[in-house]
Amino acid sequence: MYRIESKINTSSEEFKSNKKEFSKILNEYKTVLESVKHGASEKAVARHKKRGKLLARERIDLLIDPNTPFLEISPLAAYGYYNNQFPSAGIVTGIGVVQGKEVMIVANDATVKGGTYVKETIKKHVRAQQIAMENRLPTVYMVDSGGIFLPEQAEVFADRHNFGRFFYNQARLSAMGIPQIAIVMGSCTAGGAYVPAMSDETIIVKKQGTIFIGGPPLVKAATGEVVTPEELGGADVHTAISGVADHYAENDRHAIQICRNILETIEPKERQTLDIAPVEEPYYDPEELYGIAPVDLRKPVDVKEIIARMVDGSRFQEFKARYAPTLITGFARIMGYPVGIIGNNGVLFSESALKGAHFVELCSSRNIPILFLQNITGFIVGKQYEHGGIARDGAKFVHAVANADVPKFTVVFGGSFGAGNYAMAGRAYDPRLLFMWPNAKISVMGGEQAAGVLIQVKEEQLAARGQEMDPADREKLRTEILEKYEREGSAFYSTARLWDDGIIDPVDTRKIIAMGIAASLNKKFPDTKYGIFRM
Ligand code: COA
Repeated sequence: MYRIESKINTSSEEFKSNKKEFSKILNEYKTVLESVKHGASEKAVARHKKRGKLLARERIDLLIDPNTPFLEISPLAAYGYYNNQFPSAGIVTGIGVVQGKEVMIVANDATVKGGTYVKETIKKHVRAQQIAMENRLPTVYMVDSGGIFLPEQAEVFADRHNFGRFFYNQARLSAMGIPQIAIVMGSCTAGGAYVPAMSDETIIVKKQGTIFIGGPPLVKAATGEVVTPEELGGADVHTAISGVADHYAENDRHAIQICRNILETIEPKERQTLDIAPVEEPYYDPEELYGIAPVDLRKPVDVKEIIARMVDGSRFQEFKARYAPTLITGFARIMGYPVGIIGNNGVLFSESALKGAHFVELCSSRNIPILFLQNITGFIVGKQYEHGGIARDGAKFVHAVANADVPKFTVVFGGSFGAGNYAMAGRAYDPRLLFMWPNAKISVMGGEQAAGVLIQVKEEQLAARGQEMDPADREKLRTEILEKYEREGSAFYSTARLWDDGIIDPVDTRKIIAMGIAASLNKKFPDTKYGIFRM
């Protein structure tokens, strides 16, 4: 494979000023992330610790193998909502390595409103289970939760992917042979009681964990019976009398060790094999991405310069280098894993869509995971292109991406607008993982374009009535739309709503994608079957 020859001058003013601008964005993101990780009230944290309990992230640190990374999913979920009273949406989820195996971890943060669930908490929990299902990852639930956050019940209880989905998923995951293990480290009330009850194996911590369908206040109200939480559903009750739990732990640490022992006995099945090479650092320094990443989305960025700082040895076997240059396709390795890369280098034309569809077919027939690098304004518009059948060719690309069943990973490194988001494996196309760089923007179209469309629609309405738009009104509408798109298009807005799996530092991209590929090997890649490509 040839090495990409970079054309970037790292001592140029352009590079330096981009780096400076990018550093501001990156620092803002890191500050927000840090604030969220310590976002719970000091009082709640002190009370939690006084009870002898470890914090959610401390529990995870103890569960995973020493000196291994934890790929946390959506730490900024719910950021900017509920007066920021739900940092990380009150739950920590992610992929960690336990006894050498990738495991999905779902840990309630009881210092955030008693570990209760708002809409984003539910989305995070369900998303973690979806990742576990797609990659066949044993799932560990570290339960410490008061169940549904009652004031928000209308947002979290009754719909298809609401609270009830957890238990449905547990049953389905278990039926697929994916181990479900619960550690009850605090409260599991009402519906929450089904998390341990539906697990394959359950550990409960002495004088800390409780499981009951109705808590003491409800029991008293319903039957008049007066009972303490411990008598109703503590560790002694469930390990010696009811059998709802299987293992009795003295404290958090003991419970975590029991969980590690359980995971030691679990053998992964039907792994996918890949031709893995020794890891090689990129020839070009990944930190140079800060000087290249698109801060101003109007400025074109050559995606090959991005690829050069992400792949092993900066080597790239480009496919169709001379054809349809607004879409770059080719093979490379990331931390030794083979990967097909599809990256945007401008707007998508018919021929770029055909090239993309062809390359997706190559990857799926060769069982090679695909990495989509998004920086896309959309498909080309205009009479010439409509007459040339851009919709039909775009559909071929979308069809190929939707059906390709090799693991797909998406990183939005610039803009993600319009149907380009779909063709490039946006969230709706089920990439195994999707991340945003902090500078990234995502919306149906850019703010300028949206303002242009809406102003024109308004002007045409008025013209039909023989009226004209007041220039001041036009300007006001324009400003309002630009501001709205700026706010709603930001990576923070996206990640707070779980449109992605998190914002990442560009330098970490290759490690994170490698971890995603490693996790995907726990399940044989399904055979890809395409439908009708419209010709
Ligand atoms: N809905 C809304 N808020 C809840 C809640 C719920 N289900 N459970 C707890 N909270 C809130 C509390 O009001 C408190 O808020 P504050 O910090 O603003 O004062 C915070 O979460 C912590 O609760 P607190 O009771 O002080 O903490 P704790 O650690 O002593 O107890 C629980 C935690 C979860 C055991 C206890 O709050 C409880 O039993 N909650 C009710 C559980 C329930 O019946 N759930 C049924 C829903 S499916």
